[in-house]
Amino acid sequence: MRMRISPSFGSAMASSFTVCRLHTIGRGSLVKCLQKVDTFLHRNIGTNVVAVQEKNGFKSLYAVQAERQEQAERSVLISCHSRTNEKKFLKYIANYGDIQKYFFYESYGMYAVVEFANQESVASLLEGTAIPSISHESLVPFKSRLLSMRNLGSVDLSNQPSGKKRQAQTSIPINELIQRLSKEESIDQQITSLTEAYQLTEENYRLRYLVCSLLKDIAAGFFPECTIMPFGSSVNGFGKLGCDLDMFLDLDGISGKNATMPKSGLFLEYQMKRANLERIVTQNILSVIGECVDQFGPGCVGVQKILNARCPLVRFAHQPSGFQCDLTANNRVAMKSTELLYLYGELDPRVRHLVFTVRCWARAHSITSSIPGAWISNFSLTVMVLFFLQRRSPPIIPTLNHLRDLAGPEDKSVIEDNDCTFVSDFSKIRLESNTETLEQLLCEFFEFYASFCFRTLSINIRKGKEQNKPEVAPLHIQNPFETTLNVSKNVNASQVDRFVALCQESSWLIQQNITAPSRDGTKGKATITPWGVSTLLLPSQVAAIKSRKRRKIEPASERIKSLLESLKNTNNQQNQS
Ligand code: GTP
Ligand code: MG
Repeated sequence: MRMRISPSFGSAMASSFTVCRLHTIGRGSLVKCLQKVDTFLHRNIGTNVVAVQEKNGFKSLYAVQAERQEQAERSVLISCHSRTNEKKFLKYIANYGDIQKYFFYESYGMYAVVEFANQESVASLLEGTAIPSISHESLVPFKSRLLSMRNLGSVDLSNQPSGKKRQAQTSIPINELIQRLSKEESIDQQITSLTEAYQLTEENYRLRYLVCSLLKDIAAGFFPECTIMPFGSSVNGFGKLGCDLDMFLDLDGISGKNATMPKSGLFLEYQMKRANLERIVTQNILSVIGECVDQFGPGCVGVQKILNARCPLVRFAHQPSGFQCDLTANNRVAMKSTELLYLYGELDPRVRHLVFTVRCWARAHSITSSIPGAWISNFSLTVMVLFFLQRRSPPIIPTLNHLRDLAGPEDKSVIEDNDCTFVSDFSKIRLESNTETLEQLLCEFFEFYASFCFRTLSINIRKGKEQNKPEVAPLHIQNPFETTLNVSKNVNASQVDRFVALCQESSWLIQQNITAPSRDGTKGKATITPWGVSTLLLPSQVAAIKSRKRRKIEPASERIKSLLESLKNTNNQQNQS
């Protein structure tokens, strides 16, 4: 049997400018490439306005998603031994069809993702798999594309997957990152390096789409033509290795929602059991799918049905990938927010760099948390960065209203009476020529929010201008599409105070550490002193002093109170579900 294996991911986009422009999602070296494009544009276009048309290689999120979804359907996930012989493994798998791509990774054991050139190869592989018989246990006979390779001959260490091919799918620890950044020569390089260390890799993107595809196989038992798509930071360009996997079960394509009703002919009698409210239908569907995932989903553990939340969801851990998953349905506005964030990230490379740095800084100081609570969410933080970039002079990114004005009839989108229309054709967007460096932008970001009047003003990316707060809330960030809502409604006053104090401190700190210290020490043993962005990630002095003072005055700190509150809410949600 012929075996065709493409070179490892990423190498194709290592050097060539043209090739880089075609691969928008594999970002490793793309980040650097985009910077070159950007500098090129600034250097060569003497006018005040830069046309995004110059960067026409960008694909819409829909196009990227369709391509990745199709790749995932041709793929299988195989659990193997930690000393699997790579050559023997590939030879064995190639018996079932041409291998297009493959990689190994570690997550509580060794796994391989194998993408075949044709979907038929997956069927033929499944035909060829043996069903294990275990005499003393009863098994659920559910056939999936999660397989396990056993007893593949002798171990040969020289043939094990190499380090690069068996990367862990998690980000490096913060201390390691601080060390790495301290070795860089400039703050701009530190920011670029931080983005490269944290952003999702090509393999991680593929794994995320594959998990969605495996989940779709389960849901397809009830809804054969459904799709399950990732959204949020898994696809918007701001995802960090290890971020959760938000999934959207899309039934609109089969619900007949947007179809015109024929006058005569055959109709599906029980296509939808009637219910008064769409929310109840969503809850019922998620309840059934959640049950199936719990009972039959290979590798899915800790399934919780959180159906009474504002946006009902099924939460679980997918062990083979290590992803924490949230499955939602009927969540089209969130898909639109994802698309909008993706578009902003594609418009100018500085957007993504700044968002990554601010997210990382916020996480290092516990401004954000993976536990839901009264803290600022990553989504809110990203909107704050976007708003800041709209407020630069000249602005780095346009307002949402401007993107709406550029939209064509094909972009029209109204979801539950909310206008979600904005332009999808990148070539219609013209950017103003702002040449600020990442270093300047980071310093200015801290200054901007250190003195922002959170007491009276609301952050509004639709208008690109602060507005008077329409309601009382410590932090008000207008939801870009559901404009009567505040995306940071959960945030309490003490969290806003902490954020402002940290912005003040960081603004001061970065000014003090703006240049790299000269390296001392003997050959090969240079001392690495944190400087620039690294110092921003070290434990905060101001916040520590403040919290010590506060502890004396308050019987229980706000932080503990909000943690208790969040635990109570989580318990309530679990009891209700
Ligand atoms: P991390 O998971 O923290 O990395 O970021 P995320 O952007 O994925 O955030 P999260 O998982 O909390 O939410 C997933 C997506 O849902 C976001 O990217 C948004 O598109 C959307 N979303 C989250 N919170 C809100 C909100 O309050 N309002 C709106 N409109 N959309 C939200
Ligand atoms: Mg998420």
